[in-house]
Amino acid sequence: MKALVLAGGSGTRLRPITHTSSKQLVPVANKPILFYGLEAIAEAGITEVGVVVGSTAAEIQAAVGDGSAFGLRVTYIPQSEPLGLAHAVLIAQPFLGDDDFVMYLGDNFVMDGITDVVEEFRKDRRDAHILLTRVADPSAFGVAVTDADGRVTELAEKPRHPRSDLAVAGVYLFTPVVHDAVRAIRPSARGELEITDALQWMIDHRLAVHSTVITGYWKDTGNVTDMLEVNRTLLERVEPRVDGFVDDESEIIGRVRIEAGAEVRRSRIVGPAVIGAGSVVTDSYIGPSTSVAENCRITSTEIEYSIVLRDSSFDRIRRVEASLVGRNVKVTLAPRLPATHRLVIGDHGQVQLSS
Ligand code: TTP
Repeated sequence: MKALVLAGGSGTRLRPITHTSSKQLVPVANKPILFYGLEAIAEAGITEVGVVVGSTAAEIQAAVGDGSAFGLRVTYIPQSEPLGLAHAVLIAQPFLGDDDFVMYLGDNFVMDGITDVVEEFRKDRRDAHILLTRVADPSAFGVAVTDADGRVTELAEKPRHPRSDLAVAGVYLFTPVVHDAVRAIRPSARGELEITDALQWMIDHRLAVHSTVITGYWKDTGNVTDMLEVNRTLLERVEPRVDGFVDDESEIIGRVRIEAGAEVRRSRIVGPAVIGAGSVVTDSYIGPSTSVAENCRITSTEIEYSIVLRDSSFDRIRRVEASLVGRNVKVTLAPRLPATHRLVIGDHGQVQLSS
């Protein structure tokens, strides 16, 4: 059995972060979201992995390499344009051959991994097997209708009137018959080859599409709100430890990891939180559910419920909340007078100012 990991896409919902870097490499609890998926695949006993890459191919390849760090053998599959999840399967056919495979969306997070569902699929070997999860707002997802045995009878992509509360999570298991499906379907109204259409084609052709409803935590990190939420959830599992330096005037409360080479001076860090290697926090407050990546400078600033990527700095800012801050960002205080905001913001940036 092989795995197909989707790490291309356009990431419009995470602009401007995705203008310059890959959304699958945004760190949650200071580890790229993609790595959690690769670890789950390795844990399920799969070693041959195709990684579909788009415009951020170089960055993904630099981070994942040949996959040996995860115990995997990785083959990169370039996708010229993000033409849909089923298009990714279509172009991966030479790599997948006649093997069964698990398709894993590189920006998705499944708390308890995929070992159980891979086992179930290996045992029963239905034509396709998908993961479902109950959600409060199904109209934002692919929605499945199932019978009492878990067989999927109907699928709809982001329906206005959902017929169930079962959302399709980003893990799909396929036998090679899926290749007939992705060849048969046509692009949707948004111009993509949809995997829900391929699954519906299978259902229409009386092929067995089964499902497992997961009770554990699953999230698609495609937007900032969900990214912060996954970060919060993962930080709650962080092993508290101090490998860096914390001076006597600082206070570390709760589940906090201070990585090697980090320095905390005259500051208060309230967990769950991580301070990345080489970062320096001075006269500041880092509040719950916050990840500060490597080599950041946080000075006289309050940050809570946020992700700060590497090499960024904050100087005298009160206060930052529910924010996703990219790499090499500088946030400084404007001179008191005149009362004005000076902004250099990339396309699609979103800034909320209090006055
Ligand atoms: P999505 O998040 O559904 O799509 P997207 O990345 O284009 O994002 P947005 O809707 O914000 O514009 O994609 C799910 C995963 O699959 C994600 O890791 C990107 C990847 N992907 C591909 O590799 N190729 C594709 O053609 C598409 C559509 C997505």
